[in-house]
Amino acid sequence: MYRDNPLTNISWHDFQKLTPEQKGPYFLREDRPYHVLTAQQFSRPMLERICDLTTKIRLIGKTKGGIHFLQDLLSEKRAMLYFVQPSTRTFLSFYAACQILGIAPAEVRDTTTSSEVKGESPEDTVRTFSSYFDLIIMRHPVGGFAERIAWLLSNTNRPIPLLNAGSGKDQHPTQALLDIYTLQRSFESHGGIERKRIAFVGDLGRGRTVRSLATLLLLYPGVRQYFVAPKELQIGDDIIAAIEKAGMEYEVCDDFEQVVPEVDAIYMTRIQDEWDASHESRLTDSNRFHFTAKHLAMLKPDAVLLHPLPRRKEIDVEVDSDPRAIYWRQVRNGMWVRAALMLTIFDRGVEIDRYYEDLVS
Ligand code: NCD
Repeated sequence: MYRDNPLTNISWHDFQKLTPEQKGPYFLREDRPYHVLTAQQFSRPMLERICDLTTKIRLIGKTKGGIHFLQDLLSEKRAMLYFVQPSTRTFLSFYAACQILGIAPAEVRDTTTSSEVKGESPEDTVRTFSSYFDLIIMRHPVGGFAERIAWLLSNTNRPIPLLNAGSGKDQHPTQALLDIYTLQRSFESHGGIERKRIAFVGDLGRGRTVRSLATLLLLYPGVRQYFVAPKELQIGDDIIAAIEKAGMEYEVCDDFEQVVPEVDAIYMTRIQDEWDASHESRLTDSNRFHFTAKHLAMLKPDAVLLHPLPRRKEIDVEVDSDPRAIYWRQVRNGMWVRAALMLTIFDRGVEIDRYYEDLVS
């Protein structure tokens, strides 16, 4: 049936046995992302292309004529934002990105208002969306659920792309894309992301943003990753194994203050205690992993401080006004990167290239 969609060529049973790296090609079409489910599905050229489109869209979006041009690009499309876990930035930035491109967005954020309360399976609920929409953007608490739905949709007579906007404790690929874009822009004048030292701090075991970004950083030769956390919240063995397989350097430690002056970027995260069954992370002394004004003095002058947000106490509010604190820039970039990604999925990037050429020539 749909020969151009590789997920039609494999049974769900066989697909589940694949590693994340092996699954990646099944989410692509002609070297472009079709479904966006994992960080592992991206190649370096794909990241470069998404970053390039993002910068062009941002510039085009500065003029009224450009805004109208963008709004016409995907005005024949409708998107369902199915967000059954809390979200502020990811939801709103996708919503705004849809508006930028003329995509009509609709939303389900609360399953008590859908037929799931009547006993309908989440699979049937999501399949229903494909009758009305051209794209599903989904945040779901169950890791791997997005992959199951992508397989399922691909094997119906109305396959549509699925975008993972955060799944369980495992993946948040679009956050990792905006993080890469923000890092690339920050390091533009001093050698790009390659060979930089990047530290992750906080709840690395359950922080899906960290897991996805650590995976994308494997595409940048010479990057050295630091995982700074109490033992109970350390990064998963699968991520360490992937770094070792890539032959890249890393350090696992819990001495935050020793790492601060050494690195080019610090990625702070909150404790993900919504996953706690036994309040184990409340017993952890996480105060040692907070970035305060005192740490600004220790940070390299051209280093940057990131956070996927929401934050709690990990970063003092008084740090926000330092030019090295770039988490509010991440928030804004998220909207443009997500617009670039949706354009890529629907293969409309060339139109951006053309408009941009005219604009700058
Ligand atoms: C993150 C998430 O949902 O994983 N938020 C986000 O999308 N920026 C991080 C978090 O909740 O801590």
